[in-house]
Amino acid sequence: MVYLGVNVDHVATVRQARLGIEPDPIYAAFLAETGGADGITIHLREDRRHIQDRDVEVLAQTIKTRINFEMACTEEMINIALKNKPFTCCLVPEKRQELTTEGGLDLKANYNSLKDAIDVLHSNDIKISLFIDPDKAQIETAAKLNADYIEIHTGKYADSNYNEKNIELQRIYDAGKFADELGLIVNAGHGLDYKNIIPVLMMKELHEVNIGHSIIARSIFTGIENAVREMKNIINQYSVK
Ligand code: PXP
Repeated sequence: MVYLGVNVDHVATVRQARLGIEPDPIYAAFLAETGGADGITIHLREDRRHIQDRDVEVLAQTIKTRINFEMACTEEMINIALKNKPFTCCLVPEKRQELTTEGGLDLKANYNSLKDAIDVLHSNDIKISLFIDPDKAQIETAAKLNADYIEIHTGKYADSNYNEKNIELQRIYDAGKFADELGLIVNAGHGLDYKNIIPVLMMKELHEVNIGHSIIARSIFTGIENAVREMKNIINQYSVK
């Protein structure tokens, strides 16, 4: 079985467009769980453009599955994670100007600060996932950093044209195999939709996918429960695990 984490950031984006109280990502998370989500992913950004501190706090108290808390490796975010105790912290790079997370973390360049953060979070029983490109050197460093999971950035694959698609896919498969050999649990996410996820599900090492945009986009027309259920059915039908 491959697990589905549903990212509800986009619900908060709509709410923040009016700085009001609806739609509430907490209610979205509840409906996603009812539709079969195995976990809820949220990214508290430094600029608070979508998810707010209150969302993290309320979700931590109400969720029935697990929170995957995406965060930049900063003191502020580490303190928020320690307060709310998500199941996993997924450490991601963050740039203020980007529309969404553009690339994976550079683990070598940020080794010391990552090591310190991972040690603190681990000692508080929080598992660590590192969002990285499908790259051997990054995977080796993730293992050295004692991460529990890697999340392979599938954005390049999702954005690639017909000719490049198989090359990017092979990179993802190779990365999954290599990470598994090093004892890392393999997640994937970014840009996955109801169609392009199918070849990714052929990776036998795959543990979990984290999906936001395509599910929330579909939910405008079909409702969150249905949109999640449809994705979950595809995962159950095509995953080889
Ligand atoms: N995984 C990570 C680490 C991300 O940063 C994001 C985007 O917030 C996702 C998964 C979900 O990406 P998408 O919204 O394109 O499905």
